[in-house]
Amino acid sequence: MCRQVHGGIEPAWAVTLTFRSTVVDVASGRRNHLFGDLIMCGIVAYIGKRHALPVLIEGLKRLEYRGYDSAGVAILDGKMEIAKSIGRVRKLEELVEKTGGFKGTIGIAHTRWATHGGVTDRNAHPHCDDKKLGHNIAIIHNGIIENYSSLKKYLEEKGHTFESETDTEVLAHLIGELYKGDLEKAVQAALREVTGAYAIAAICKSEPDVLVVARKGSPLMVGVGKDEYIVASDSSAIVAHTTQAFTLADYTVAKLTRDSFRTSTVDDVPVDAQVKELEFDLAEIELGDFEHFMLKEIYEQPGALRTCLKGRVDTRSGQIVLGGVLQHAKMLATARSVTFVGQGTALHACMIASYLMEELGKVNADWDYASEFRYRNPIVEEGTVVVAISQSGETADTLAALQEAKQRGAFSLGVVNVVGSTISRETDAGVYLRVGPEIGVASTKAFVGQVMVATMLALFVGRRRYLSNDFVSSFLKSLEQIPDAIERTLKLSDKVKASVAKYIDRENWLFLGRGLNWPVALEGALKLKELSYIHAEGMPAAEMKHGPIALIDNGMPCVFIATKNSQYEKVLSNIQEVRSRGGHVIAIATEGDEHIATMAEEVFYVPDVPELLQPLVTVIPLQLLAYHAAVLRGKDVDKPRNLAKSVTVE
Ligand code: G6P
Repeated sequence: MCRQVHGGIEPAWAVTLTFRSTVVDVASGRRNHLFGDLIMCGIVAYIGKRHALPVLIEGLKRLEYRGYDSAGVAILDGKMEIAKSIGRVRKLEELVEKTGGFKGTIGIAHTRWATHGGVTDRNAHPHCDDKKLGHNIAIIHNGIIENYSSLKKYLEEKGHTFESETDTEVLAHLIGELYKGDLEKAVQAALREVTGAYAIAAICKSEPDVLVVARKGSPLMVGVGKDEYIVASDSSAIVAHTTQAFTLADYTVAKLTRDSFRTSTVDDVPVDAQVKELEFDLAEIELGDFEHFMLKEIYEQPGALRTCLKGRVDTRSGQIVLGGVLQHAKMLATARSVTFVGQGTALHACMIASYLMEELGKVNADWDYASEFRYRNPIVEEGTVVVAISQSGETADTLAALQEAKQRGAFSLGVVNVVGSTISRETDAGVYLRVGPEIGVASTKAFVGQVMVATMLALFVGRRRYLSNDFVSSFLKSLEQIPDAIERTLKLSDKVKASVAKYIDRENWLFLGRGLNWPVALEGALKLKELSYIHAEGMPAAEMKHGPIALIDNGMPCVFIATKNSQYEKVLSNIQEVRSRGGHVIAIATEGDEHIATMAEEVFYVPDVPELLQPLVTVIPLQLLAYHAAVLRGKDVDKPRNLAKSVTVE
């Protein structure tokens, strides 16, 4: 018997959120439209002696940043108890509470970010095998079953009827069809038929002591506790219970009982799994005294950068020790060109990185959206280095660009935060950010970490080409001062909040900067729009007069990054152009610059740091501006609408 409860009616906008995408059905060779498949989401599963429900709900909350359109849970307690709800995990929790709670000690749960198909209870996970088989098996899935349509046809011919539009339900039915009393064997057999990417967890009513999980392409980790296992998309859902864990390798299936596990390939060849200590501090993923993760992460930036620098720079000798690239030093020093690729905030770090590589490394450097690089037939010659910058290390566009570059013969480097992520595994070498987990969907501390690593990388190359030890050593001294400078800048928070309050009803903003502060202007605009849903544009300050100046009237706030540097005077001229058309000027300026106060309605002063390091401080007031604007507008700062932390779909 299977009891299913659903929460809420389907939202009106579900229809407008119905996207379609085509992928190749490998089995049939045809291109198919996908409905309801899930590419980005969080999965958590439990088997042990405790009640599974609280562990699963808590795990889902930790993974909610991965997607928050809908959530679902299945627990075995003699029968298969299933609840699904559109909306946040909290809504699912309330729904289950209304039923009196599910009591079993084994279960699976899922939180979804829809990429295709409607956000509906029906499309939410878990999905079960065919009704006539008694809904014996339930699965959750992160990934995409590319040949789902030919599998579906095969199953329909065998009499299966489907309740949702998802590719995941097809996999559940296939496992059910192949089930002969052994869940592990059925999962292996089904996965032998499947093409695409997956991280799955499966439970079966007839085997209440077995949890089967498997992975290919999508992340999955198994936490090993005392007489219990907690499986999750990432360690944040595991560390509260155990610090012993293993990452499931690609193409691996794990069968977990309460006190043992075995891992094998889909062909049942045994595979080794190495249980390791998780280096993760629970405090890093708790809110503590902060109201939002974003604010916590903004304030963590000084500490995060100190950790990022630790052991990597020696100011006395002018040495930069980047363990992950050391053995490729010669190759990097003789590189013909370096291209940085990324998306979103990471793309802005790429832009800064290319300036730094050109300036400090004296190597031809450029940047591109990973999604554009991937498809524009880029020229890759001998000596081309492609650097993928990514917080998560999972962004599909960035990964695809990287694979394209490698295929064309480029040397690939990764600059990522998440240890063991796909990009870190697929690159020839790389450098970790070491800024700790970033939970807020809007990236903050990862950005400064990316710029810091890019600076070290440029110095690492430059030092081997032409930079003197004295130059590097004095530059590193300034670099080491950056965390303190950020700490001072953070004191602006109340002032920024008061200033933003004056303009909170404005629907259009401009962000302007030159040189390295141009990408910072882009980042300021991105932060404001993604968190407050205010229209904001960033651009090089000089570009304004070539069109956007037509927008300026006395209603428009224009944020200028006008710190003391080689382009300061030019920026002042651009400020005058705005003032003479009635625009409101908000300036980020260098401490001690009295003059600018005569030209701007609001000034946020930042410490004086060398021009090449200015993005690391000028971005701070912009992060605070976006944060306070979102709070003042009553928006969900950590989970902005329609966004997800890492986007694993192209
Ligand atoms: C998403 C996030 C952004 C992030 C971008 C790239 O769009 O909402 O905050 O900058 O992905 O993510 P990555 O993990 O590759 O840095």
